[in-house]
Amino acid sequence: MGVRIIGTGSYLPEKVLTNKDLEKLVDTSDEWIVSRTGIKERRICSDKEAASDLGIKAARRALADANVRVEDIDLLIVATITPDMFFPATACIIQTKLGIKNAAVFDLNAACTGFIYSLSTAQQFLQTGTYKTALVIATETLSKITDWEDRNTCVLLGDGAGAAVLRKQKGDSGILSCYLDANGQYGDLLNMPGGGSRIPATVATVKNRLHYLKMRGNETFRIAIPEMTKSVKRGLEGCGLNIEDIALLIPHQANIRIIKALAKRLSIPIEKVFVNIDKCANTSAATVAIALDEANRQGRIKEGDIIELVAFGAGFTWGSCVIKW
Ligand SMILES: CC(C)(COP(=O)(O)OP(=O)(O)OC[C@H]1O[C@@H](n2cnc3c(N)ncnc32)[C@H](O)[C@@H]1OP(=O)(O)O)[C@@H](O)C(=O)NCCC(=O)NCCS
Repeated sequence: MGVRIIGTGSYLPEKVLTNKDLEKLVDTSDEWIVSRTGIKERRICSDKEAASDLGIKAARRALADANVRVEDIDLLIVATITPDMFFPATACIIQTKLGIKNAAVFDLNAACTGFIYSLSTAQQFLQTGTYKTALVIATETLSKITDWEDRNTCVLLGDGAGAAVLRKQKGDSGILSCYLDANGQYGDLLNMPGGGSRIPATVATVKNRLHYLKMRGNETFRIAIPEMTKSVKRGLEGCGLNIEDIALLIPHQANIRIIKALAKRLSIPIEKVFVNIDKCANTSAATVAIALDEANRQGRIKEGDIIELVAFGAGFTWGSCVIKW
């Protein structure tokens, strides 16, 4: 018996923000953004949309793809760093709006690695038989915590959501291994300082722009590459496979230079690496979930293919998930 992903879905907000648009906001250029990051445009949600709204749309598409009814979901995990509010959990908000009853529901915060942490968590519950059908949603509205005056970060981020439905089924397909890791020593390199119990919101915290995402990009970049490389290898070791076995690698989309360096270190041809950073930018936890759904719908994954998801994010957290489709 294997825990399989039986359906995927994603949703991108309608509004497209191009690099040219950003040139009007900060001192940057389309040329700099494309050459340094690979990003051409990103989606931005409306003032009325929150993380749950995006997540619900992605979830409905995943449920339709899986041909699973809402009533059958008994586990809901929502990966996000931009919840609708501190509490209740965005998972509870989505549960009610989707009409899920009698389910365990919770949010999971592992930043950009959130979808992989959530898949692994769902796999444990399904493998043990505690729950039968899991819905994993990764949804982010990073535009709401973006400092639109900071050119170091505002060009990198976007909004979106992805979802997957999982079930234990007969056969050898499904999640073969997950590798999860973290090192909290790097917490200061990528965070949002204000609004929590350490620095609660005050007029001063707003004035000092502490409610926005802060990143020391270059240092983050240099740690991301080796840790993502290690994650891919550890994932494969966990199920006795090799790089050559991978039909498609789906990495977190933070910077095309990170993705290319990863491919080079792994000696995997770039044609076997899924890339959508040009259109979506970095949507934190949602990134890998959206990419998985796009790859699935584009027919880039065939039944029986070995695929590997890999991500790296704030914490720092990192990890991978090897799947036989
Ligand atoms: C942010 C990032 C794109 C910056 O690229 P970089 O090659 O590291 O560039 P640096 O930070 O060294 O900056 C180089 C110069 O470009 C400038 N710059 C930064 N953002 C700019 C922008 N949007 N437009 C124009 N110039 C910019 C910097 O100010 C710096 O100028 P200086 O040399 O005069 O000081 C890159 O570091 C990155 O992608 N970081 C990590 C992302 C990541 O791993 N995320 C994973 C977790 S989500």
